[in-house]
Amino acid sequence: MTPVDQRTGSAAINGELWGARARDWAELQEGGRRLDFEHCIRSTGIGPGTRVLDVGCGAGGFCRLAAAAGASVTGIDAAAGMIEVARERVPNVRFDVGDIQFLPYEDRSFDVVAGFHSFPFAAQPLEALREARRVANPGATVFIVVFGREDHNQLASVLHAIRALLPTMPPGAPGPLSLSAPGTLAELVARAGLTVTEYGHLETAYAYPDRETALRAIRSAGLTVLAERTAGQPAVVTALAGALAPYRTSTGGYRLAVESTYITATAWPHSRRPARSRSALSSTITSQQRSAPTLSSVPDLASRIQRR
Ligand SMILES: C[S@@+](CC[C@H](N)C(=O)[O-])C[C@H]1O[C@@H](n2cnc3c(N)ncnc32)[C@H](O)[C@@H]1O
Repeated sequence: MTPVDQRTGSAAINGELWGARARDWAELQEGGRRLDFEHCIRSTGIGPGTRVLDVGCGAGGFCRLAAAAGASVTGIDAAAGMIEVARERVPNVRFDVGDIQFLPYEDRSFDVVAGFHSFPFAAQPLEALREARRVANPGATVFIVVFGREDHNQLASVLHAIRALLPTMPPGAPGPLSLSAPGTLAELVARAGLTVTEYGHLETAYAYPDRETALRAIRSAGLTVLAERTAGQPAVVTALAGALAPYRTSTGGYRLAVESTYITATAWPHSRRPARSRSALSSTITSQQRSAPTLSSVPDLASRIQRR
């Protein structure tokens, strides 16, 4: 989001920005991730006893679902403000403050390592993916979600409107869309020594009942906090109002179609996977192919899953 010290990662900068409005994020914006979270639980087979790590866990929404599925869950995030909210919401999970690039865990500690819209904020996403691989147990799954293709993501125009208020940043600088160009994430995952086992898109929607809620929700994101500090709140509100206008619904709310791209990967090539992991993998894929994700608890979210 801003130039970062490559030795210390982006945690100091991002932690402060993302922690500023963590409660608004948890209440109003995190719900847009529900499909991503549910798809991860289902596709990785998280259940009783699975050791799960969520890197860049934010306010703990995914950790809560994984813990409810019976997993032994750890979440880590740069933002102390996010972690404070997460600890309140999910008391039976271990939460740590730290950098995605320098995980304070032993090698081979987790059966699933997940990151939802967090790797794009690492100072060096490749190093963060190598860390994910290091702490993954042999046979473990690394599950990564980022925003999908920009022409399938109506939130992208809103993010560009906010970014226009900030000084120009170099191409590839950390930020919400930095790994969204087709092929970028898959290439990094391969360079990190992981083997992609599944790749696809999730079509979600971010919905807000009215203008005030939409503004509060989007203003909770770190990029928007930074823009307000740089350009002032009135400029941000004006930019957001303009960018959101095309997505106004007949009832005065807003609804934006948002594509996520996900990758599941393993640190083990297929031929070296233990037999138990190999069969678990194929049954997971089969069950995904049979059924689209359900979102009974968030009815206005996602409609369908695309695969390729
Ligand atoms: C878009 S939010 C996603 C939060 C959560 N995964 C979710 O989907 O609701 C990005 C999160 O990554 C965290 N983050 C950014 N840079 C980080 C870093 N270098 N190390 C750890 N967490 C980081 C932020 O604090 C923020 O909580």
